[in-house]
Amino acid sequence: MILDKFKLDNDIVVITGGAGLLGRRYAKALLEAGAVVILFDINKDALEDVKKLYRDYEDKLLTFVVDITREESVQNAMLSIRDTLSKDPTILINNAAIDPKFEKNSKINKSRLENFELSQWNLELSVGLSGAMICTKIFGTQMAKNYKGVIINVASDLGVIAPDQRLYRQEGLSEEEQNVKPVTYSVIKHALIGLTKYTATYWADKGIRCNAFAPGGVYNNHSEDFTRRISNLIPLGRMANIDEYEATILFLCSDASSYMNGATLNMDGGRSIW
Ligand SMILES: NC(=O)c1ccc[n+]([C@@H]2O[C@H](COP(=O)([O-])OP(=O)(O)OC[C@H]3O[C@@H](n4cnc5c(N)ncnc54)[C@H](O)[C@@H]3O)[C@@H](O)[C@H]2O)c1
Repeated sequence: MILDKFKLDNDIVVITGGAGLLGRRYAKALLEAGAVVILFDINKDALEDVKKLYRDYEDKLLTFVVDITREESVQNAMLSIRDTLSKDPTILINNAAIDPKFEKNSKINKSRLENFELSQWNLELSVGLSGAMICTKIFGTQMAKNYKGVIINVASDLGVIAPDQRLYRQEGLSEEEQNVKPVTYSVIKHALIGLTKYTATYWADKGIRCNAFAPGGVYNNHSEDFTRRISNLIPLGRMANIDEYEATILFLCSDASSYMNGATLNMDGGRSIW
């Protein structure tokens, strides 16, 4: 049966940033497909929320407070997983990221490249990029020993195209005061596609596939003005709905994508082709 290819009954999935907006949605989809799902997040309360939300799956959902920027934190979680399940994870979804908030209407707008602070650069790269490398190193090494594994790096449409800074403009502010999509976002998301190609070739002979997922923005109560502007840049004329990426993640995790390796799957309503 073709639908059997989507089943994850023998899989253990780690989702980093798993308590966030999208991570928790992926968790539900993968639980429904039969996987054991393990969420890593630094936000303990959000992890508790997810556990409550999915209490029907309590035997199959594990949560760990893990800071993925700290190698020993990830290593300890890996050892706890092995103690608890007597098996290693077979799927890793590098999904965690920091969504930085910059003070708006400030004379010195720190989101702008001219004012961008190195400490902010280091902070964001440590989660979005170094964190993905650390998890890939630790779980990928085990997967390679077991000759089985799937790694997904969550990039973005802005891992493929440059941000259109006109989207973020606000009336009445001078050029220097305007907020922009920070340089870190572009760099991290493009770099994750590089990490994907590296990993996809590095361990291809060890039964590991690695792909990048490049989703467009999900509508999450954005302002009317922003929603209209961004929709104009998208051939489908709208942002994504919150539930539109779950089946894609299931596809990427499962044998339904067994011949896909080193690819970047764009799913952005067509924004990146316009
Ligand atoms: N939401 C969108 O519209 C959208 C669009 C394109 C790509 N993406 C990407 O999808 C991914 C998920 O997005 P989201 O909207 O769910 O983000 P989110 O901010 O809701 O979730 C990110 C999670 O990562 C966790 N996190 C931060 N630092 C961490 C650390 N050091 N260790 C462990 N966990 C940490 C946060 O606590 C949070 O729960 C991100 O990589 C994001 O860039 C999102």
